[in-house]
Amino acid sequence: MDPQAVKSDLVLILDFGSQYTHLITRRIRALSVFSLCISGTCPLSSITSLNPKVVILSGGPHSVHSNDSPSFADGFVDWAQSNGVFVLGICYGLQLLVQRLGGEVRVGEKQEYGRMDIAVEKNCGIFGGKKVGDKLVVWMSHGDEAARLPDGFEVVARSQQGAVAAVEDRDRKFYGLQYHPEVTHSPEGMETLRYFLFDVCGVNAGWKMEDVMDEEIEVINNTVAPDDHVICALSGGVDSTVAATLVHKAIGDRLHCVFVDNGLLRYKERERVMETFERDLHLPVTCVDASEQFLSKLKGVVDPEMKRKIIGKEFICIFDAFAHELEQKLGKKPAFLVQGTLYPDVIESCPPPGSGRTHSHTIKSHHNVGGLPKDMKLKLIEPLKLFFKDEVRQLGRILKVPEPFLKRHPFPGPGLAVRVLGDVTEGNALDIVRQVDEIFIQSIKDAGIYDSIWQAFAVFLPVKSVGVQGDQRTHSYVVTLRAVTSQDGMTADWYCFENSFLKEVSQKICNNVRGVNRVTLDITSKPPSTIEWE
Ligand code: XMP
Repeated sequence: MDPQAVKSDLVLILDFGSQYTHLITRRIRALSVFSLCISGTCPLSSITSLNPKVVILSGGPHSVHSNDSPSFADGFVDWAQSNGVFVLGICYGLQLLVQRLGGEVRVGEKQEYGRMDIAVEKNCGIFGGKKVGDKLVVWMSHGDEAARLPDGFEVVARSQQGAVAAVEDRDRKFYGLQYHPEVTHSPEGMETLRYFLFDVCGVNAGWKMEDVMDEEIEVINNTVAPDDHVICALSGGVDSTVAATLVHKAIGDRLHCVFVDNGLLRYKERERVMETFERDLHLPVTCVDASEQFLSKLKGVVDPEMKRKIIGKEFICIFDAFAHELEQKLGKKPAFLVQGTLYPDVIESCPPPGSGRTHSHTIKSHHNVGGLPKDMKLKLIEPLKLFFKDEVRQLGRILKVPEPFLKRHPFPGPGLAVRVLGDVTEGNALDIVRQVDEIFIQSIKDAGIYDSIWQAFAVFLPVKSVGVQGDQRTHSYVVTLRAVTSQDGMTADWYCFENSFLKEVSQKICNNVRGVNRVTLDITSKPPSTIEWE
């Protein structure tokens, strides 16, 4: 999507490393205003080329006094002032603004962390209907504080302890909040952002998913020439499905999708996914049955990282062969590849300055099913790369992707290989985990709790224990059930089922799945554990 084509003013966020930065982007988009986040230390030209109406300087873990504290480019303040761009500093962003404009920031006498009251000292558009003396509960998290404000600035709110909580320089259109309005612990924070954007800055709201879809389609049509062909590997997940549906809407059957059955899919997954693609989405998909190919390469492999590497490599071979076959058929090489990359993936691969994180493509590469063959020379189309997951779901709804599909729990690219510990080809491990998983997930759906759980699945443990079934001693396998709640999969907590639910599921599994005589439940959060077992 071309940020310039959006029908709302752009609010640009300069990221200085706060854990809340992306929450600001989301809050602003929730107000139907388009918002983007880029590194706080980017060159001035990166900012000016986007032509923002408002720039927000995010918080960050630094002190403006430390040697390596990140700052905006020289010339930013002059550019903002001469172009009438509104600037709002949040927490570290406020301190940076104060310091760079000639004020003074000091280590606060009392550091302020957590929920606290602030009182309005001066009428200011940012606090909308509030009068002098009115109080707000806000979330503070700072050690340093603004001790002397630059010329032209005034204090508009203070904390109970007398620290500067909000400032403005109305003439120069510079504002600052020492607290975090973007977090829910600041109950009136969303109101404050709303007043700031609409009343103070006069921003036009016009960010609508329907428009986004039309714009995306236009961009795709402008990018892909009328005789160009495009390929897309569908995983059966939300992102690749929405991306493919969108591209299909733009270029029709010049999109060629492939769905690979790697032998590591869930119970009836291939049939179910293919049916949705064909019946509901009318997407032209070639299904490649490569289960033998994958499983023969995985025979005897127990190391989880090795399994991932082998699977990644096989995907690439199949993908390459698919592209080659298309070339033979069409008499022309496909020119583009669609990927369902999301905004958090883009953000994660460019960590903010001073975050201590480095370029994290290697962490993510396994999520893109092993990366791409270097000699394919395909140009990428990533129509979702500016969107968060919930926005992609919204887009999916507009594109009429069936609701149950949009709400599916995530499923890893390497599939059941990361849910069968040890050698996946040993005995009937894959079959067992498929059956157990199906019973577990169906029971969760029947109990009406599927949407309250972020991800649920079964794991096969290559461990046998003694049991007794029908008066006979058995020596059978152990399975474990995992269900978690989470925001984004980075951290997770285990889901608390009712005892009666667990009792019933366990009985169903032992009565229906041959080879299992023990069902366990994983009650570990992430960290210290991960979500998958591997
Ligand atoms: P972990 O196990 O690392 O997983 O806590 C976090 C989330 O990522 C999913 N996951 C993957 N997704 N390809 C994917 O598309 C992969 O290789 C992969 N590995 C883990 C996992 O299911 C969980 O939702």
